[in-house]
Amino acid sequence: MWVVPARRAIDLLIRFARLVSDASEGAEVLPLLADALLEHVPAAGLAVVEIGVTGEVHVSVSRNVPEPLHRTALEADAIGEELGETLLRAADGTFSEQQTRPLVAGGNLFGAVVIFFDAEHPVTPDGMQLADGLVDLAAIALGNATAVAKLETSHAALAASQEMLARTEKLRALGQMAAGVSHDLKNILNPLSLHLQFIERSLDKGKTKDAKESCIEMRQVLVRGVQTLERLRDYSRQSKESKTELVDLDRLVREAAEIARPRMASIGGRGVRIEQELTAPPHVMAMSGEVVSALVNLIVNAIDALAGGGGTVTLRSGESHGGAWVSVGDDGPGMPRDVEKHVFEPFFTTKGAEGTGLGLAMVYACVQRHGGTVTLATEPGAGTTFTLWFPGGSEGSQRPQSS
Ligand SMILES: Nc1ncnc2c1ncn2[C@@H]1O[C@H](COP(=O)(O)OP(=O)(O)OP(=O)(O)O)[C@@H](O)[C@H]1O
Ligand SMILES: [Mg+2]
Repeated sequence: MWVVPARRAIDLLIRFARLVSDASEGAEVLPLLADALLEHVPAAGLAVVEIGVTGEVHVSVSRNVPEPLHRTALEADAIGEELGETLLRAADGTFSEQQTRPLVAGGNLFGAVVIFFDAEHPVTPDGMQLADGLVDLAAIALGNATAVAKLETSHAALAASQEMLARTEKLRALGQMAAGVSHDLKNILNPLSLHLQFIERSLDKGKTKDAKESCIEMRQVLVRGVQTLERLRDYSRQSKESKTELVDLDRLVREAAEIARPRMASIGGRGVRIEQELTAPPHVMAMSGEVVSALVNLIVNAIDALAGGGGTVTLRSGESHGGAWVSVGDDGPGMPRDVEKHVFEPFFTTKGAEGTGLGLAMVYACVQRHGGTVTLATEPGAGTTFTLWFPGGSEGSQRPQSS
């Protein structure tokens, strides 16, 4: 009787486990199993019956079996007790005995292995013990390969839908941008052409004083147009135009507060106060000009929000995640959810002709260019706080979990 010494069997199983775990596809596992069974059990022949993706059953791998066995029609539920005997009969006397083992792993049935024996290769308990080990290892490898394939498929599907979403988002932003630009251009060109007509008529009638007045108004419209263009330029400005250096955020906050102060006067300064709670956080790598503009935008927005009933704008700073943050908070009316959702979109404004809707889009773009984050906390009736975080100059800084 052929006996597999225990030590050799263990070595074999270890080698086989390595071999099948390297197989990246399920299809590579079964031929390896067939060869190992044939050589080491040893068997006279074998057939691996596999369940296909559509549930059909077929002999996918075989060794030393006669042709008729391949032509045996197998029912969808063929994998059962009868399978081995059916194939033994189909082999038409080539083999004397068979042993059938299911390929099961992780609750999934992948198929079965029918091992054939004859007088030269008789079935032995040690041989079958080894066969059981090999079949189990192959089933585990099949299970892993299937799980990996499923993961790859869902990963590919996820990546595709993310790409689609990003493209849709970009197109939407582009459409919005185009709509905003054309709206602003119309607001400039329409009054300009009306003034021009008026000037022509006034000059025809010799009314130079009226023509001059119209010229002054035209200039104001043009100034507004240029301002809009400048804001657009700020919004799309690329970082290479500015210099990154180690900066003190507290200094930038104070500068921004000074620049924004005239806005309070322009709204009558009705009970609006600016308070500073600055804590001298470590310096960060930033483009001072861009950060000051971003802070001015936030402070002006906060002042606008308080214009109706007054209140306090609070400017804070601090240290976190190896970087530093500044926040601009107000105790104004806050934002309803459908405003909050859109505030960072270019040209989104609730201020009508008074606003371009580029302020927060610019803030967002600026923070992105710095590798930082911007977070918004707002609640209707409970004020609004924007927090900008910037990475520090050292390696240790890590973006906080927000965009
Ligand atoms: N502190 C705030 N409180 C309440 N709503 C705010 C606040 N900041 C921004 N918003 C809302 O977000 C919108 C978009 O702000 P953003 O700064 O982008 O544009 P804008 O202020 O309307 O126009 P612009 O900045 O060109 O003057 C505002 O119209 C307003 O509805
Ligand atoms: Mg604004």
